[in-house]
Amino acid sequence: MNKGKYYITTPIYYPSGNPHIGHCYTTVACDAIARFKRMEGYDVMFLTGTDEHGMKIEQKAKELGVTPKEYVDPIVDNFKKLWNTMDISYDRYIRTTDEYHVKSVQKIFKKLYDKGYIYKGEYTGKYCTPCESFWTESQLDENGCCPDCHRPVIDAHEEAYFLKVSEFADKVEKFLTETDYLSPKSRVNEMINNFIKPGLEDLCVSRTSFTWGIPVDFDPGHVVYVWVDALSNYITALGYENDEYNDFEKYWPADLHMTAKEIVRFHSIIWPIMLMMLDLPLPRHLYGHGWINFNGQKMSKSIGNVIDPFVLAKRYGSDAVRYQILRDMPYGSDSNFSNEIMINRINSDLANGFGNLVSRTVAMADKYFGGTLPEERQAEPLDDELISMAEKLCDTVTPLIEEAQLAKALEEIFKVVSRANKYIDETEPWILGKDETKKARLASVLYNLLETIRICSGLLAAFMPKTMPKVWEQIGADETLTKYEILGEFGKLPANVAVHKGEALFPRIDVDKEIDELNALLTPAKTFKEDEDLDKANVITIDQFAEVKLRSGEITACEKIKKSKKLLKLQVDDGRNGRQIVSGIANWYKPEDLIGKKIVFVANLSPAKLCGELSEGMILACDAGEDDVRVLFLDKDVPNGSTIR
Ligand code: MSP
Repeated sequence: MNKGKYYITTPIYYPSGNPHIGHCYTTVACDAIARFKRMEGYDVMFLTGTDEHGMKIEQKAKELGVTPKEYVDPIVDNFKKLWNTMDISYDRYIRTTDEYHVKSVQKIFKKLYDKGYIYKGEYTGKYCTPCESFWTESQLDENGCCPDCHRPVIDAHEEAYFLKVSEFADKVEKFLTETDYLSPKSRVNEMINNFIKPGLEDLCVSRTSFTWGIPVDFDPGHVVYVWVDALSNYITALGYENDEYNDFEKYWPADLHMTAKEIVRFHSIIWPIMLMMLDLPLPRHLYGHGWINFNGQKMSKSIGNVIDPFVLAKRYGSDAVRYQILRDMPYGSDSNFSNEIMINRINSDLANGFGNLVSRTVAMADKYFGGTLPEERQAEPLDDELISMAEKLCDTVTPLIEEAQLAKALEEIFKVVSRANKYIDETEPWILGKDETKKARLASVLYNLLETIRICSGLLAAFMPKTMPKVWEQIGADETLTKYEILGEFGKLPANVAVHKGEALFPRIDVDKEIDELNALLTPAKTFKEDEDLDKANVITIDQFAEVKLRSGEITACEKIKKSKKLLKLQVDDGRNGRQIVSGIANWYKPEDLIGKKIVFVANLSPAKLCGELSEGMILACDAGEDDVRVLFLDKDVPNGSTIR
């Protein structure tokens, strides 16, 4: 059934470091929606890509002695590799360095200029290099720093072109208040009160102080400043002002742009204004989601506290990672990430909840009926609630997906999963199984469970695309039975359905062991015997090294941890609020030897619990023989909390 077209986009990512779990959120969320819409019968265009121009990329490339293109190419490959790992089913990938995009942006810029919406002036203001954002004085934070990353900004003056956004303030305000373009609704007020009401300022759209950008073809020396270049991707990728693609008529306007909150401003104000200027239809929805935070701060490349999604996907499977990040992001607000949060979520919902439901049901069908249910049935009123919940689920979930309420959609599905597990406890199939006269009742119970699994897994396929086909194999549901159209109908599996026992879908993770292993992954090698080949095989870039934040600190208190022979608990003055670090050095140091010593510690290590004690970082030590370890001590006069590089 063709329900029409659906065009969905992620932001295009800056290729200026390795992608982290925060980047995965938007892309995985869009992927789940794109998959769901395809299931519903929409002709989906799902676009993602990379935003490759700008001063920051030019600077990084220069530092490394390569061209900007040479710098971004491997990073772009890495993004694509990650999307592969995470099963992202994008239909198109745009790079802003693609020739067709470059040409289209030049035409868009010229069109805006010819229509009188772009004029030449002088730019003076504040610029945050890491964020590539201009700010006015009034937008800076309380310390006069970038309001996004809180780092110092620089003064900037230069000849530049400006986009007359100020002229469109009323129109865009009307658009935001009178349509349901921007959600959550709270962001509408935020945009109006923080940006439109104080007076929209014209936007600087060209620069002369760097060259890594799309040249303004009618004024050499100017390159298009990144937001006009970046936002245009949503239309150039469909073929607007180019012959590369021919999909503009078909897919524009976008049905859903999704971004995190920090760039909602550009997508809800600048982008509609650009489209109004170009006389193009406006996109239907923009959803601005919150951030995945890590230790209360936005996870970002510039801050450095990144979590490697490749490592997580390898250890837990991409579906489990996809599930956790979507399930734990509340609608419109931030979520907090830690390895414990991820593992606990996987264990509770996927291993104990859904995985257990499937394995118990299939195992019982196998044990009591040799895998094939008999056709005799005996229904009881006890079945009604589960059946009615399962029947309604598809109707409950579908509008939630439309609204990008993904955590809520998963919550609803898992309510049914929990109800089904409770139904097992209530019906006690193991007791029915012992009584020959109860076989028809037992068959009903197992059939109801299999049907519930069919419906839940059909809906979950958009979220966990790798695992659900394995579930269908186990519950004996062929492809036709997992189609969206029949997910709202109970009783579609054949009465004599045959199950096939399979491997555990989501093995339970031993939290403590896992956390220790994750920490060990981050522990430096114990000996000097590593040969050169190993080093060569594990070469990292300077950017990867820069992700590890090393700082100086002073040990102010230290004690042994009773439950452990190896661990010491250190209180460290880190130049901020202080932190506790647990270190495995008890064999070589007495607590009193350490107090007052200055040490080096990893400041952005994921916090972990060791023997029940919180450890927020790791102090650096080196192997000093077969069984000897020495802590790296610093000079007494090094201030606490200084960056080590
Ligand atoms: N290049 C611009 C976007 C241009 S779109 C026309 C940009 N790139 S970015 O790489 O810095 O970030 C892109 C997006 O990554 C964010 O909007 C958001 O969707 C996602 N995220 C980055 N860090 C994130 C978290 N910590 N949490 C959730 N999403 C995050 O901005």
